[in-house]
Amino acid sequence: MSIKEKYFHENVVYQIYPRSYKDANGDGVGDIKGIISKLDYLKLLGIGIIWLSPVYESPHDDMGYDVSNYYKIHKEYGTLEEMELLISEAKKRDIRIIMDLVVNHTSDEHEWFIKSKDVNSKYHDYYIWRKGRKNNTRPPNNWQSNFSGSAWKYDKDVDKWYLHLFSEKQVDLNFHNKEVIEEVKKIIKFWMDKGIYGFRCDVINQIYKTSLDNGRQRIFLTGREHYLNQEGNHLILKELQRDVFSKYDSMTVGETFRVDFKNANKFLDDELDMVFQFDHVNVDRFSVPLFKKKYRPRKLKKILFNWQKNVSWNTNYLENHDQLRSIPRFGDEKNYYLESAKMLAMLTLLLKGTPFIYQGQEIGMLNIGTDNLEDIKDVAAVTVYNLLRKLLIPHRLALKLVNTINRDNARTPMQWDKTHNAGFTSGDPWLKVNPNYQNINVENNLKDPNSLFYFYQKLIKLRKEIKALSYGNFNALSTSGNLIAFTRTFGEDEYTVILNLTNKKRKNPLFLRGEVILSIYGETNYEDKKHLAPYEGALIKTS
Ligand code: GLC
Ligand code: CA
Repeated sequence: MSIKEKYFHENVVYQIYPRSYKDANGDGVGDIKGIISKLDYLKLLGIGIIWLSPVYESPHDDMGYDVSNYYKIHKEYGTLEEMELLISEAKKRDIRIIMDLVVNHTSDEHEWFIKSKDVNSKYHDYYIWRKGRKNNTRPPNNWQSNFSGSAWKYDKDVDKWYLHLFSEKQVDLNFHNKEVIEEVKKIIKFWMDKGIYGFRCDVINQIYKTSLDNGRQRIFLTGREHYLNQEGNHLILKELQRDVFSKYDSMTVGETFRVDFKNANKFLDDELDMVFQFDHVNVDRFSVPLFKKKYRPRKLKKILFNWQKNVSWNTNYLENHDQLRSIPRFGDEKNYYLESAKMLAMLTLLLKGTPFIYQGQEIGMLNIGTDNLEDIKDVAAVTVYNLLRKLLIPHRLALKLVNTINRDNARTPMQWDKTHNAGFTSGDPWLKVNPNYQNINVENNLKDPNSLFYFYQKLIKLRKEIKALSYGNFNALSTSGNLIAFTRTFGEDEYTVILNLTNKKRKNPLFLRGEVILSIYGETNYEDKKHLAPYEGALIKTS
C-alpha cells in the first residue's frame, strides 16, 4: 500500500491553545503576538505544523468554540493583520498553520443567529428552531447536550426552541440548508487564501441531523443515533472536499466522536485526510465520561493496534485541550515522571500516522485540581457540577468528580520559566498557573540535555530523517499486554520499537539485534537483554 507523500505525513503537529500560550501585552490572556514570539522555540522543537485552536471573534463561553464572526480575530488575541503576520512568520520558519473549523454551531451572538429570531428572515432556517411538545411547554425531543441536560433551549421572543448540542450559547447550524453549506465553503476559502494549510474540523461527524425524532433513552447523549456519522454528513464533507479543499495543497483532520474503523474509513474516503478517534483516550472511562475506571495498559495497546491495523493513516495523540494531561493517566507522575513521559513520547511519535502534540506536553506539564468552584472556567465542568448539585450530590463530592473531567486541567498557562506566573503573563492570568512551574518549565528543559523537550526534539528529527518511521508499514509484534512492540518497515529497512507500559520491571521476550537508535535508559544493547526497566523504551534498527 503506498501513500501519496504529503507534508502532513512527514511533519509533526503542535497544538496551541491561544488563550494559554503566551501573553504579550499583560492582560492575562494569551495572544497572537505572544505566539509569534515563540515561533523560534517551536522551530527548535522541530514541528512542521501548528494547529491553532479557535482565534475567531467569540464571546468565549466555550473559549472560542463559540464563534460570533468567522472573518474577524477575537479582540483579546489581536487583529487580522497580526494573524497574517503569524502566518508569514511561521512560513519563514517552514511551519504551516491549520485553524479550527467550528461550524457545527455558532455562538448565539453571531449575527446569523440574532437575525434568525425573525421567523421571516432567511436566517431563521440557518438554525434548528422548533415548536416544543405538550403545547410548546416541553423541548421538541428528548436529546441531551454533550455538556449534560436538554439539548434544547426555549426562546421567549421567538416562542420556539433551538437546538444546542453543546452549551446554550453554542447554537447548532442547520446543514439541511444549502446556504449554510455555501457559508462554510466561503469561510474555508477565505482562510485558505490567506495562506492557511487546512483545518481541524470540530465535532465534524455530527453536523447533519437526519431526523429530530426522539432518541433511544441512554444515560449519556440520548439522540445521538440521529446525528452521528450520518449519510448526509458524508455527502457534505465530499462536497467540501470537491469544491474547496481539493483546490489547495491542504490538510484536514476531523474530530469524530464515537467512530469505529468502518466509519473512520468512510470519512477518509474523499472527505478528510485524517480523523481523531477517541477509543484510546477513553480507555480509563466508563461510557459516562464522568466516571473513571482503572487504566489497563493491555487495553490501551489493543485499541491502538486495532486502529493501526485497520486505518491506513492515523492521528497519534495522547493530549489536547479537552483531555487530562497524559503522564498522570498513562504514566507514573510520582515515581517515574521523566521515564514514563519519554515512553509516552515514543508511543506518540513512532506509531504510524501524524503525531499531534499539545502545548506543554513536550515539557511534561501536569494536571491542576481545584477545590474552589470559582476557579473553574470550563463551561462543561460548571454545567456538570450544577447538574450533580441538582441531583443532591454534596458539594465536595461533586467537585471531586468534576475535577476528573475539568478541561481546565490541560488549559493552564504554558510554563515558560521560573519567574512570576511562569513567564506566561506580566499581569493576572485568566486561569491559575500550575504551582509546579518552578520545576516544570521550558527554561529548565532547555538547560538539561536529558530533558523531555530534547527527547521530543530527537524523536521529531528521527521521524523526519528516517522514512520507515513516517511512511513505513506498521507490524505488531506479539508480547505480553504490559509491553508494546512493533516494527516499522520501508523497503529493506526495519526498525523495532519496544516499550514497557508499566512501572514494573518486565521480562523482555524479544532479543533484538541491531543498532540502538534511541533508548530511554541510555542502553546500547538489546540483543541479550533479559529485562526491561519501568517504562523502558527503545528504538532499534533491526535490519
Ligand atoms: C470540540 C472541542 C471542544 C468544544 C466542543 C464544542 O469537542 O474540542 O473544546 O467544547 O467541540 O465546540
Ligand atoms: Ca494578551
